[in-house]
Amino acid sequence: MVTVLVGTQWGDEGKGKIVDYLAEEADIVARYQGGANAGHTVFVGERKHVFHLVPSGILHPDKICVIGNGVVVDPVCLAEEVETLEKNGVSVRGRLLIAENAHVTLEYHKLLDRVEEKQKGNGAIGTTGRGIGTTYVDKYSRIGIRVSDFLDEVVFREKLRQALEIKNYLLKTYYGQKPLDFSVLEAESSGLRDFIRPMATDVASYLNQAIKKGKNVLAEGAQGTFLDVDFGTYPYVTASNPISGGACTGLGLPPHLISRVIGVAKAYTTRVGEGPFPTELHGDLAERLRNAGSEFGATTGRPRRCGWFDAVLVRYACRLNGCHEIVITKLDILSGLEKIRVAVAYRHGQSLITEYPLHTRTFREALPIYEEMEGWPDDLSRVRTWQDLPGAARRYLRRIEELVETPIKLVSVGVGRKDILSRQC
Ligand code: IMP
Repeated sequence: MVTVLVGTQWGDEGKGKIVDYLAEEADIVARYQGGANAGHTVFVGERKHVFHLVPSGILHPDKICVIGNGVVVDPVCLAEEVETLEKNGVSVRGRLLIAENAHVTLEYHKLLDRVEEKQKGNGAIGTTGRGIGTTYVDKYSRIGIRVSDFLDEVVFREKLRQALEIKNYLLKTYYGQKPLDFSVLEAESSGLRDFIRPMATDVASYLNQAIKKGKNVLAEGAQGTFLDVDFGTYPYVTASNPISGGACTGLGLPPHLISRVIGVAKAYTTRVGEGPFPTELHGDLAERLRNAGSEFGATTGRPRRCGWFDAVLVRYACRLNGCHEIVITKLDILSGLEKIRVAVAYRHGQSLITEYPLHTRTFREALPIYEEMEGWPDDLSRVRTWQDLPGAARRYLRRIEELVETPIKLVSVGVGRKDILSRQC
């Protein structure tokens, strides 16, 4: 059985923590897209773990974690992450597998990502600078380097030489940068080969065989639906498919094996980087949400833009992903607000829009139509059951489920594992 967990907003919905919680029921936790742009934060007791490439299921010592072919793997970043986890007492080696056909992110991808962004000036996407888009571009241009190539010294040297010829030309002549040195990149990569080799495998075959034997797989999406390269607010998107369908292509799983899709939504909305955001708040209220919710990027440290919950977006995401249920995170951050707003539609010129418009200009110009609800003064940090939530918080959640046409199964009210309330309670 395969369960897919997806973000229903612009990423940072708190998926890492929910993966950590749901991993109890899984045997294998798998990442299917994105790369080191992701930043999943999980608190276990007082200890904070930040994940970029390794699935957060690794915190459970009996789980196998998998990085699928749809992910772009930065070997330098992966080595640092594994080292930090192991220093913190989390064993990784022996429990982490990487798809041989995943593509690798190298120094030139990161450098080009940064200089391309600089060149775009006001039109910049606001990328994480982790070389994500530039690695996927090479994948689709069929000049990418896969994990299996990275491990093969002869093939790697050849591919690296070819790639550098093009990249250095671009860096020098178009971006006015210093070219990268083949031997430096070669040496850095060869130092990482022995680290990657024991983890590299045919992940698709591994997963399909494991599922046949009755194992449960939890597929973990990074980023969120509105950063999806096809369905997000293009061009202000990431370069992969975070939607649930991405789990099939990014892990090599046939669609019929996916039996459950869980969407994760924050109780309000955040976005990092550029792009339209109709319910965005400015001023004191935005500042309050940002500080209370520690809304600073786990990868780049950038302050996240904050706004009200947008039910038009989350309903669209629930349909697109086929969510059977949703999880609402960070409900506690709304405590103390007298009134809480939820966008239920948009106005665009003379028109009323009730569905997310794929045309980015229309979306940029859309003005939210809000419903206002009573807030609650109570601190939720000690609440452990749905019934103990203040009445106004329950009404807020019920209204969200009505608007997004999907039942809420879990609610989180704090950073720890114990702060997740199950609806059944
Ligand atoms: P890239 O994925 O680094 O190319 O960045 C493209 C867009 O996706 C930018 O707006 C980033 O801020 C955003 N983005 C990428 N990864 C994440 C994430 O994990 N959380 C939130 N936003 C992200």
